[in-house]
Amino acid sequence: LNFNVNRERSYILEVLFNGLRRLEYRGYDSSGIAIDSCYYSNGSISTFSPSPLVFRKEGNIDSLVKSVYEEVATTELNLEESFSVHAGIAHTRWATHGEPSPRNSHPQTSGPDNDFVVVHNGVITNYEVLKQTLLRHGFTFESDTDTEVIPKLAKYVFDKANEGEAQNIVSFTDVVLEVMRHLDGAYALIFKSRHYPNELIACKRGGPLLLGVKELAEDVTAGASFSDFKILKNGQPKELFISSDANALVEHTKKVLVIEDSEVVHIKDGGVTILKFDNEKGKGGTLSRPLSVQRALSILEMEVEQINKGKYKHYMQKEIHEQPESLTTTMRGRLIRGGSCKAKSVLLGGIKDHLKTIRRSRRILFIGCGTSYNAALAARPILEELSGIPVTMEIASDLVDRQGPIYREDTAVFVSQSGETADTLQALEYALENGALCVGITNTVGSAIARTTHCGVHINAGAEIGVASTKAYTSQIAVMAMLALAIADDTISNQGRREAIIDGLFELPSRVKEVLQLDQEMEELAKQLIDEQSLLVFGRGYNYATALEGALKVKEVSLMHSEGILAGEMKHGPLALVDENLPIVVIATRDACFSKQQSVIQQLHARKGRLIVMCSKGDAASVGPGGSCRAIEVPLVQDCLQPVINIIPLQLLAYHLTVLRGLNVDQPRNLAKSVTTQ
Ligand code: G6P
Repeated sequence: LNFNVNRERSYILEVLFNGLRRLEYRGYDSSGIAIDSCYYSNGSISTFSPSPLVFRKEGNIDSLVKSVYEEVATTELNLEESFSVHAGIAHTRWATHGEPSPRNSHPQTSGPDNDFVVVHNGVITNYEVLKQTLLRHGFTFESDTDTEVIPKLAKYVFDKANEGEAQNIVSFTDVVLEVMRHLDGAYALIFKSRHYPNELIACKRGGPLLLGVKELAEDVTAGASFSDFKILKNGQPKELFISSDANALVEHTKKVLVIEDSEVVHIKDGGVTILKFDNEKGKGGTLSRPLSVQRALSILEMEVEQINKGKYKHYMQKEIHEQPESLTTTMRGRLIRGGSCKAKSVLLGGIKDHLKTIRRSRRILFIGCGTSYNAALAARPILEELSGIPVTMEIASDLVDRQGPIYREDTAVFVSQSGETADTLQALEYALENGALCVGITNTVGSAIARTTHCGVHINAGAEIGVASTKAYTSQIAVMAMLALAIADDTISNQGRREAIIDGLFELPSRVKEVLQLDQEMEELAKQLIDEQSLLVFGRGYNYATALEGALKVKEVSLMHSEGILAGEMKHGPLALVDENLPIVVIATRDACFSKQQSVIQQLHARKGRLIVMCSKGDAASVGPGGSCRAIEVPLVQDCLQPVINIIPLQLLAYHLTVLRGLNVDQPRNLAKSVTTQ
């Protein structure tokens, strides 16, 4: 509810638009809003027009904002009157079904009267079947989306229930429950309807959804039961927000309720009821009466500043440069300095009760996608070395495609920045079905992976907004190094090694600060590479992952083709590509693979390769035969932590290449931050 408007801007529209801007990093090819067109008169709501107004636009949020205000200006609607209350919904889309266009944008509607309008995150897998049924009942479809079946199904259910009745006899909740019963797939949904003005219904199965509560009259403390709230306190209304992402809520409130699967949130005249719908599709014919849900609110641990760019031009730049701080937060309270009679150690509260089971595992599987997979690959050698347990790597989608064997004696570690990646979640469900102990490593408290795993560790890197993951990558490696230390904590034989790594972790933020000073040098290098078609990155051992991740960064943001190559495989194919034109980065910092990498450099040099060698400080003069290659000198740290240092110049290179090429750093072409559909 809101009464605060001025003539130029409507508060409620601005709240919706700002929310969309906060979510733009999740998808940015089209957007839309639906809003009640009602106004307050003499203290009560008068409906100006019975249908919610719907605006949809292709392109970024700014183009939606412009078109809404332009459109409003050409109508008889008065901003002050029309948008002073009450409920609105908004959506930014990342196309899965149907090209980006206004007709494919959300809200999707039941027809021209906007009887029901819906915004949707996720994918409805049985939409074709539902569409055929609705077509047979006379509905026509205007979009190519899977979502459109939802409002149309709602209209069908509504009309059927009221058939032959003089007035509406079905509640909004019952309509939505009946719709949910027919939907397969993953979704988070918000419904509006002209039959239920001033009401919203939100529900979910699979996709994330948060309810934010802003008290205007009286502050609410954490742990207060949701049912304690009154709709109005001292005559003052409170504002309620529903979002799939905490970023859109935090500037309004930190008090949130994480909506769980099969829950239905009903907002009516500023009040909230939450019902649990326990009748899964296909199980049982009739609807059981849903139970009302009471749960304590939780407090978001994030600040608005975290999701602003501050002094930086881009989120990616900010996130690269804040790695000394994000790593410090990741390790805070988890490294124990030890003392005269106490060894240095690591404390990971989220897994300590499961360490015995992990130690007894026959195998540890690391499972993830994209950058999270690469982070796990970087941590694999130290986990194998310290624990002695075989570690296998699984790209989440591939594990599910193969239905690869997983056993009760396995520990499956799911690595995901967002904690919501659909492929990783599906692999998690598969591992749970097979009885493995499931451990989550995520950056998002309350995310699906955090909630579904048996135990886990939050990386606490702070909100990451740039689509290309940077600070989450380095924090993930730090967490997995700590995981290796914690698992091996009961072995005496490698205590010296463990303590050296712990010392290295304490030192890591300072070394990261040092390597960030290469910023300008990387900008210079980017200027030299700007017109190249392709870039290869060779690494091995701990830095095989660095090669993959460095190449991924370059290709995803600068759109330059780039491949990370295991240097040990050079002679088995990639050598054919080498000539005097193709730039090649070779990672040759000092560790057990150093001499092998020296020999790789010799061989590439013999083929006139155009080499850029990443080496440890002090090694530049000896890089390549006669010091003839371009060198990037980085500080030397413990071998297993070196990937944290070595990725940073490549992150900077990718960033500068992108800026110099005039491309969008934070929203690279065709990519989304969090892929919640398969
Ligand atoms: C998308 C993002 C990547 C990310 C990957 C895995 O592809 O663009 O940056 O690494 O998903 O995401 P997660 O949230 O599971 O780490």
